[in-house]
Amino acid sequence: MTERKETSFSGYHKKSVSERREILTEEVGLSESETLLLENGLEMDKADLMIENVIGKYEMPLAVATNFIVDGKRILVPMATEEASIVAGASKAAKMFSRYGGFLTEVGPSLMKGQIQIIPQELGLESIEMIINDSRNFLIDLGNSMVPNLVRRGGGVVGIEMTKISATRVGPMASIDIWVNTGEAMGANLVNQICERLSGEVGRLTKARVNIRILSNYSEQRITKAKCGIPVNGEDISEDMANKIVEAQVFAENSVDRAVTHNKGVLNGVDAVALATGQDWRAIEAGAHSYAARFGYKPLTHWFVDNEVLRGEIGLPLAVGVFGGITEFHPQIAVSLKVLGVKSSGELSSIMASVGLAQNFAALYSLVNQGIVHGHESLHRRKKNTGQ
Ligand code: MEV
Repeated sequence: MTERKETSFSGYHKKSVSERREILTEEVGLSESETLLLENGLEMDKADLMIENVIGKYEMPLAVATNFIVDGKRILVPMATEEASIVAGASKAAKMFSRYGGFLTEVGPSLMKGQIQIIPQELGLESIEMIINDSRNFLIDLGNSMVPNLVRRGGGVVGIEMTKISATRVGPMASIDIWVNTGEAMGANLVNQICERLSGEVGRLTKARVNIRILSNYSEQRITKAKCGIPVNGEDISEDMANKIVEAQVFAENSVDRAVTHNKGVLNGVDAVALATGQDWRAIEAGAHSYAARFGYKPLTHWFVDNEVLRGEIGLPLAVGVFGGITEFHPQIAVSLKVLGVKSSGELSSIMASVGLAQNFAALYSLVNQGIVHGHESLHRRKKNTGQ
């Protein structure tokens, strides 16, 4: 992550939009044209090339959350969301944790799985599995020859496995699982390309019929973890508050109804960063919820008191990229990534996991305190005062 000079962001929320932009420009070194992109990011003719039947552009507020320290670096976090209190909540929580070192993260490898579904014809699943085992290296090399640019960037096909699905209502089938290191890209297009191109050879070798070929959004290898801590009975949190937060955590661990909402609070933060940085937030949502459900649906975060410190941890799959796809096409996304100061998908996922943890803390802190309606009301009052 790029080192930043120390601009003061205190009272940022009380400034006007133009004052905030000035401070941001000073901190991040945005050019005049980049600052203009914050408001008018996407040109109509580019939008027309992104999807079909375009008739306009859909706008949403873009904000920055302040006070984040992630792995020792000060970070400004662009967030796009329509929901009041999210940016304020994340910034407030980040401020509390920043006094105690902020967030520490760990990022898993950029491994994505693609699936080639095969339906056995002439051979049984056992024989097919032997063929896949014998042809593994050949198929890996073939797959890599199809994505030379990815291989040049240090990624590529790293493994091939088979998952047998013996008894289904339409007979036996299998998933030929193609593991791809997608490097700095989210990787959906790359994985889909590899699966489609390899499937002919897989069908020929296994004498099976190939049905669908697509990446899996489960991305269970691409886990990013973040943790933070805050002393109990220090200036930020009383023992009573810490205990109530732990009680709310345990409630989520024991009630699926509550765990879903708890995780929605996490994703309020993660999605807002995803949207601002051009990530596929549907893939992130699908991955996060399926990961939360791997042992029965559970909270993505964990809060506990240990040695008089309230500690928070999060782990979730984050298939994100800073290279390829919309990140290179939508000019506003380049500005968001510059504001964040990230150059790698790992750095981006570290920040997103930290924001998710902070957002969850902010929600729990409000819920065990005065509730969330109060926070929402202050923005409603501002809208009313401006007659909107
Ligand atoms: C609202 O968008 C999110 C919360 O419901 C999350 C939670 O309950 O933890 C406040």
